[in-house]
Amino acid sequence: MITKAVIPIAGLGSRLLPATKAIPKEMFPVVDKPMIQYVVEEAANAGIKEVVLVTHPSKNSVENHFDTMYELESQLESRHKSDLLKEVQLIQELGVKIISVRQSKAQGLGHAISCARPVIGDNDFCILLPDVLINPHLCNSKIDNIAAMISRFEFEKSSQIMLEPVPREKVHQYGIASVKEQEPIKSGNFSIIERLIEKPSPEDTPSNLAVVGRYVMSKSIWGFLEKLEPGVGGEIQLTDAIDALLATEKVEGYHIVGKSHDCGNHLNWLQTNIEFGLCSNKIGLSLKNWLKNLTF
Ligand code: G1P
Repeated sequence: MITKAVIPIAGLGSRLLPATKAIPKEMFPVVDKPMIQYVVEEAANAGIKEVVLVTHPSKNSVENHFDTMYELESQLESRHKSDLLKEVQLIQELGVKIISVRQSKAQGLGHAISCARPVIGDNDFCILLPDVLINPHLCNSKIDNIAAMISRFEFEKSSQIMLEPVPREKVHQYGIASVKEQEPIKSGNFSIIERLIEKPSPEDTPSNLAVVGRYVMSKSIWGFLEKLEPGVGGEIQLTDAIDALLATEKVEGYHIVGKSHDCGNHLNWLQTNIEFGLCSNKIGLSLKNWLKNLTF
């Protein structure tokens, strides 16, 4: 059973500057909750019981968000604001233990993941990148992508990487996979990954299937992460470790149902807010009416 997940949050969020100068990007709100809460909820809904945050000294507010706030809670209680109190307490009710480890140097995603090894130990585990939101409950969709990946991992005993097609001119922003079989590729299907390459140029890319921030990893990845030399950008790349794993174990691509919501730059973060806002029970209708009447 997979019950552990790693969420690397040590990055400085430079693509969201100047807003990220003093506030971690993971704490940026999407409608009414910080981004990180959606990601932890996604993990919890898929059965994860322990989340390891690989963090940085500037990110204490993320840990605080998952802690109890006695003053706030007793104030809400004494003022009979029970709805708000319930929402604030929802995080504790997820039943997920949050553990933090520090990444001492910014040496890339692969390095960040290896910092979690002492806590994850000899277990298979999930990785969820915090600037990608995948909301199974958005507009009543019932598909839980990460849960589907975990069940497949448990059945096939092979690592699972979430894939989504991106426009060719954007492949240089992602890890890109080439896959065997299954044409045309359908949402919810799995295919065998033949090769993974980090941030290829549009001319050299083997496909337009991008890795979109969700992984279910066999514990064998630890050995490959350990031996890795710096790759693209002089950083230790998780993509390179998975590409090396392919030589010894089957790794499958899971073709996302629905779509991922990137929040890693200003435009995408705003778009995600609008999309999630339109699906919100609280503000969806008012937002829709406001958008309809917006004049340019
Ligand atoms: C990271 C990974 C990349 C993946 C992307 C998804 O890149 O290295 O393989 O496709 O996340 O968001 P980053 O966005 O940190 O440059």
